Amino acid sequence: MLKSTYKCLNISSTLDISKTIAKLPTFDNIVKQIRNNNNTNNNELSSPPSSIPKIQGWIQSMRVMKNVTFIDLTDGSTSTALKVVIPTETTKGNHNTPQKQDPVTVKALKIGQSISITNVLVNKTPNRIQDFELKFTSNSNLNIIGDILPDYPLQKKTQSVKYLRSINPIFKFKTDYFTKQLKFRSFIEYNIHSYLWKSNFIKVTPPIITRNDCEGSNNELFKIVSNTTATKKNANNDITKDVQPEDPYLTVSAQLHLETLLNSTNRTWSLIPCFRAEKSNTTRHLLEFWMLEMEFAFINDLQPLLNFIKDFIIHLTEMAMIENETLLPSYYPPEVDNKDTILKRWESLKNRTNWTTITYDKAINLLLSESRETTNFKFEPKWGNALQSEHEKFLTEKIFNGPVFVTNYPRDCKSFYMKQSSSCSSESRNTHLTVACFDLLVPGMGEIIGGSLREDDPIRLQNEMKRRGMNLNHELDWYLDLRKYGSVPHGGFGLGLERLLSYLFGNHNIRDSIPFPRSAKSQIQL
Ligand code: 4AD
Ligand code: MG
Repeated sequence: MLKSTYKCLNISSTLDISKTIAKLPTFDNIVKQIRNNNNTNNNELSSPPSSIPKIQGWIQSMRVMKNVTFIDLTDGSTSTALKVVIPTETTKGNHNTPQKQDPVTVKALKIGQSISITNVLVNKTPNRIQDFELKFTSNSNLNIIGDILPDYPLQKKTQSVKYLRSINPIFKFKTDYFTKQLKFRSFIEYNIHSYLWKSNFIKVTPPIITRNDCEGSNNELFKIVSNTTATKKNANNDITKDVQPEDPYLTVSAQLHLETLLNSTNRTWSLIPCFRAEKSNTTRHLLEFWMLEMEFAFINDLQPLLNFIKDFIIHLTEMAMIENETLLPSYYPPEVDNKDTILKRWESLKNRTNWTTITYDKAINLLLSESRETTNFKFEPKWGNALQSEHEKFLTEKIFNGPVFVTNYPRDCKSFYMKQSSSCSSESRNTHLTVACFDLLVPGMGEIIGGSLREDDPIRLQNEMKRRGMNLNHELDWYLDLRKYGSVPHGGFGLGLERLLSYLFGNHNIRDSIPFPRSAKSQIQL
């Protein structure tokens, strides 16, 4: 039982939260009562009710027969809709709304309306999938709370995701497939929080507005310009000259701020929206996405990070597996993975032997040798170049059929802050310099995590910044200073939340893993 006592202002009251919520007349509580599964911890176990005073929800589907009408009613609190049976004849004109306006008949009911019905009878149906139904009786009253306009677009139960994406965004989350994705995201976020709290990580709140370009990719930055500055035009009618070099950006990653807080917290993490002015209009790129980032103090090699990630993702998958009945949709549009495929993927992820770790060197060699006969890549794999999405897919789908950590990429493929790999730090091997980093690649998606050890030597870091033409205005001096006051070897990673969710849920497009996707070329409608 959750109790909190308020003693301020001389008020001493006990708030029993779980009891309060258990009494709300939502479908989840109604179902618990009917199944006599009244888990309120209040020792008030009562016998299942024979009728329910009031139900209210949205009509998800309807089947009108000659004598009875079956309604699937949902209020969003249960994983499946409740079955309500209305005798078609009885309701025709016989029952008024509570306001005694026009009688509501079955003919007036439509998918998408919100309705309430009073005094419904609980009818046990032990031989059906749902073990009870709710019956409208002569004591019942039906009221349409919110009607719909005739152009309501969700008529069939199984509409394609392509269609659902194309209609006004206010509708798609009324379908079970999309509502379940909201629930899935909420579930995964909850489990991230609880796992990290139990693992002694401190969650921190880095800023969204920043002066840093953590990933050093200048053309991916969104600059913030106040409306007044932007609209103030100069003599040539040119507004761009009013954008100052010191104008801040929307953050691309919280990493540098996490590193700042790491030196006192040991293990720290955040989950914040990140912004990248991506040109790529693909199924795995967003302009605004959520990144889960973690930093670990006192680590000298990549292995602890890789072990942690494996345990962490396996834990999230195990939790999802336990709850799969309530998390997964009751129907799947044709273009996405169905329940069987998803459960097989989760089962396979849980098996640690299905995870592989290879170096970038090995990845390039494998791509060259394995693909020679079978595949024509658009981009030829070549040492020194970044792995393309087609290469990542080939490694995870064709060669290893599971998640793959690729480690030790060439220095010039990665960001300035990564620690140079000790085996390759000699200047004489300049062309083969690598950094202690990794990407986690998964089938169907490619990279979902990028991480590394961080360069903790201030001189080496400064040299690397110089080599890349960075910190010309000393804007990153504070980052160098972190290495001068009790610095420790450390590392961390960033996980694209939508990419992980999309992979686990099998929706084949990360735009469906965030309610209001912002992507290149998308129109921002809401
Ligand atoms: O590999 P990235 O760029 O790494 C960083 O930003 C590090 N500073 C993170 C860190 O070490 N703290 O991005 C991390 C992850 C990628 O693996 C990918 O999953 C996701 O963020 N990501 C995107 N997701 C959706 N849309 C985009 N445009 C993304 N760009 C990166
Ligand atoms: Mg990356």
